Amino acid sequence: MTSARRKAYLEAMQIDTWRRRGSPAPAPAPSTVTVPAQSAPGEAQTADWAGLERLVVECRRCALCETRRHTVFGVGDRRANWFVVGEAPGADEDRQGEPFVGRAGQLLNAMLRAIGLPRDQVFIANVLKCRPPNNRDPLAREAAACLPYLERQLALVAPRLVLVVGRIAAQNLLATDAPLAQLRGRVHRRGGAGPPIVVTYHPAYLLRTPSDKRKAWEDLKFAREVAGRG
Ligand code: URA
Repeated sequence: MTSARRKAYLEAMQIDTWRRRGSPAPAPAPSTVTVPAQSAPGEAQTADWAGLERLVVECRRCALCETRRHTVFGVGDRRANWFVVGEAPGADEDRQGEPFVGRAGQLLNAMLRAIGLPRDQVFIANVLKCRPPNNRDPLAREAAACLPYLERQLALVAPRLVLVVGRIAAQNLLATDAPLAQLRGRVHRRGGAGPPIVVTYHPAYLLRTPSDKRKAWEDLKFAREVAGRG
């Protein structure tokens, strides 16, 4: 990508493309954190893509199936190097059956383009496949019921990098209560074996707090560096 195009995408994220001369870029701490992997029980664990899609569309493992319009399976390149994990569908996603199609989705697309990744070259899925009413946070039992689907998606895609957006998604995927500030800037792995996991801000948060976009950009560069390792 030319520097002019990258500048255009950074501007689309509404990130200043200048830095005061002499001020160093903040470097995230490159430590690795290992968290226990949870196993995907039952049919999901061995399902192929078609079987997994059917399990999700027919899922009644929690009460969200009563209020959903559509399940939101996930979208993108099933052989992608990058797998983006969000929290849960919102109203737009519930209506369209696709993750990150609302305003937060537009910003996510801009963030991905800024590091040279068009949306169709990554795989995008949420921890929850159904919308929580009024966009409330997922309940622990909802996340536990749904996580096997995401775990199987991660196994099928086998990405080089998992980018988790937002505290809720990160806490659920990494089975931790740690705040986002502690989760950013380091490499996590589930079970010590899977792909490296990097955490950044949720684009919906960045829409509310644009001053943190610069830090999100540092996270994205860190993720790109991690994806390029080995
Ligand atoms: N927020 C998410 O976490 N996921 C979506 O799909 C949309 C908004």
